[in-house]
Amino acid sequence: MSKTILCIGAGYVGGPTMAVIADNCPEYKVIVGDINAARIKGWQSATLPIYEPGLDAVVKRARGRNLFFTTDIIAGIKEADIIFVSVHTPTKTFGRGAGRAADLQFWEKTARDIVEHAESDKIVVEKSTLPVRTAEAMHRILQSNTKGLNFEVISNPEFMAEGTAIDDLQHPDRVLVGAMSTPSGQEALADVVDIYKHWVPEAKIKTTNVWSSELSKLVSNAMLAQRVSSVNSISALCEKTDANILEVSASMGLDSRIGPKFLSAGVGFGGSCFKKDILNLVYLCEYYGLPEVAAYWEQVIKINDYQQRRFVENIANQMFNTVAGKKIAVFGFAFKADTGDTRESPAIYICRMLLDEHAKLAIHDPQALPYAATDLADCSAAEISYETDPYQAAAGAHAIVVLTDWQEFRQLDYRRIFDLMDKPAFIFDGRNLLEHQKLFDLGFNVFPIGQKALSHFEKTSA
Ligand code: NAD
Ligand code: UGA
Repeated sequence: MSKTILCIGAGYVGGPTMAVIADNCPEYKVIVGDINAARIKGWQSATLPIYEPGLDAVVKRARGRNLFFTTDIIAGIKEADIIFVSVHTPTKTFGRGAGRAADLQFWEKTARDIVEHAESDKIVVEKSTLPVRTAEAMHRILQSNTKGLNFEVISNPEFMAEGTAIDDLQHPDRVLVGAMSTPSGQEALADVVDIYKHWVPEAKIKTTNVWSSELSKLVSNAMLAQRVSSVNSISALCEKTDANILEVSASMGLDSRIGPKFLSAGVGFGGSCFKKDILNLVYLCEYYGLPEVAAYWEQVIKINDYQQRRFVENIANQMFNTVAGKKIAVFGFAFKADTGDTRESPAIYICRMLLDEHAKLAIHDPQALPYAATDLADCSAAEISYETDPYQAAAGAHAIVVLTDWQEFRQLDYRRIFDLMDKPAFIFDGRNLLEHQKLFDLGFNVFPIGQKALSHFEKTSA
């Protein structure tokens, strides 16, 4: 093996990213280390710890050949030439910057582990999403070593999305690598670029200064989330004016300056990163004395919260102003389709609001039920059931609430579902996923997002 790469953190990013590197670079030894022994055991087993389409095949090709999973991070540090750090960087819950700033304790711990155990020079790569200028702190900690070792810090943020991680990693829009302008910084940058050159066209590998690279990642997420909040805000206006958000989004998206992606209205964005990264951006703007800029970005989160509240208020209003004691089937708990991840899923907040209204929930999701049960563990177990069968979830329900855009929800037998439900039967399609006219014709009252409701009551009264 010509080089050894270690990745500290075997999560949603570390695992898939390193599997794809190992797959494309057979001459590099790739070690993925984590303090979570159960997670590592999962990566070593036939049932990987995360659900991601295409991931199994990539791991199976490389594992045991040049891809290894371990809890022995110290040995990995000693052996590695290049160390990627991909630990989580959640929102701080305590002290200065609580609720906004990134909690960098896991990150700093890895820097200290590297300093303590390294026996040779290393390139340390920031793969986690970090506040701009973190590389400076990282560099200071690493250079404080008394062994005469040199450490170069490179920023190489990850842009993959869950559910499409393997395709995103195989065919990225861009790979970003930021480095210090010193000769040794530029040498380290070339080493990291060399990894990606194995399968990414050179034109798509962008090199920048380290601060631009760190900030580009935060801002890319903020811009994506901003599009979702923008379109969700307009969905509210559509519902008041009989404009149709699908038509408005499609029309806007045809403008090549706007583009069609990330214009789907729904129940708001979830996932582990959008909210925390925007909060972090807000904190940074305040820290650097830019309150107007901070307030601008904070509004993206406020609209996201508003969209979820608005959705639940509509459910209660349409169901004769009360959901108390009524069974509601929740279709989808993951924060998006094709993942079992529920971190910051809109479903968590929406289910909790429905439970506050004393609804009884039957939750169905193809991948996320174990996490759903953990997320709602503090709620009354008597009011929630977790159903692997969507028909069981719908049996006796007054309403179906669609919270995740799993394509398989489109294929269900809605005639059968209608027959199983209490009447009048409602569908609140929080993802504009289903075929609304067909459902209406079957007898459902259908309430999409940003589109005219299809209600049999309106028809009767007209
Ligand atoms: P994760 O929580 O799934 O994984 C992080 C892992 O790091 C955990 O398994 C944890 O046990 C491990 N860890 C923490 N401290 C450690 C230590 N000292 N030594 C060894 N292991 C340690 O998080 P994730 O979703 O993979 O995200 C990681 C980073 O990547 C975050 O900064 C996130 O913002 C960023 N990111 C995430 C995504 C995504 O889709 N999830 C995409 C791009 C970027
Ligand atoms: C997002 C970014 O897309 C990635 O580029 C980035 O690397 C990653 O965050 C990260 O840093 O963690 P991810 O959160 O996995 O990826 O998934 P997205 O596809 O971005 O979806 C985020 C949320 O927005 C989901 O809840 C999704 O349902 C919602 N969304 C997305 C909409 O409501 N409407 C849209 O049009 C698009």
